[in-house]
Amino acid sequence: MNDSARVLVAHQLHKRFKAQEALRGLSLGVAPGELYGLVGPDGAGKTTALRIMAGVMGPDEGYARIAGKDPLSGDPAVRSMLGYMPQQYSLYGDLSVDENLAFFGKMFCLDKATFSAQRERLLHITRLGRFGDRRADALSGGMYKKLALACSLLPKPRVLLLDEPTNGVDPVSRRELWALLFELVEDGMAVVVSTAYMDEAERCHRVGLLHRGQLLMEGAPTRLMAEHGNAATFEDLFLAAVREAA
Ligand SMILES: Nc1ncnc2c1ncn2[C@@H]1O[C@H](COP(=O)(O)OP(=O)(O)OP(=O)(O)O)[C@@H](O)[C@H]1O
Ligand SMILES: [Mg+2]
Repeated sequence: MNDSARVLVAHQLHKRFKAQEALRGLSLGVAPGELYGLVGPDGAGKTTALRIMAGVMGPDEGYARIAGKDPLSGDPAVRSMLGYMPQQYSLYGDLSVDENLAFFGKMFCLDKATFSAQRERLLHITRLGRFGDRRADALSGGMYKKLALACSLLPKPRVLLLDEPTNGVDPVSRRELWALLFELVEDGMAVVVSTAYMDEAERCHRVGLLHRGQLLMEGAPTRLMAEHGNAATFEDLFLAAVREAA
């Protein structure tokens, strides 16, 4: 894939927090319509990588680009292209589902017509339509995540970054969230999702195994399995790679 086909690029990202090196030369690229899984153990650097790609903070070295633009630039064009769902997404607990959507719609400066069309569509695809009046803090874990996802999708981003979106979500909601992600990528969105679940990693078009701030391997799950013929499962493959790197 050439660089112009990649709507999201991270190039040689380095990030250090005092003595802790969180990223050590991470590079990746994601094309429109591609679902990329960033997998790795606790502390591997997944959140740091996503935060840098989202322009929440800058790297010490390297750069991120969204459709060729710097996410740190503050350019409104970048903001509208980018959806980011942090690991701890802060919805307003004392506001209802509808009120949260309205709040984020204003934050993204959506005009009235765009907001109502998006609100309708997102309530439909997340199946939250029946719960418009329910306070966010009264939603189940899975529904809360779906509302967070709906809020990050309001500006119709071309690139979506999701940090462990299914952590603490029951299996049914997990499946629904994944079905939703597949719909989004089929429509051409580029999605990066971090996860600690191997079954989720296996469903991605490509995965990168992040360990101590570096990619240990990257590729389509079936290709990685074929290349490492002695691993019985995807989980075995990744655990062996992490052990080898230790
Ligand atoms: N703001 C910060 N200040 C100090 N150290 C940090 C900060 N953010 C991250 N780190 C450290 O950087 C490393 C990578 O952290 P990061 O949160 O990116 O990992 P992660 O893969 O998202 O982990 P998890 O699976 O637990 O969410 C860790 O050692 C972490 O302690
Ligand atoms: Mg994290």
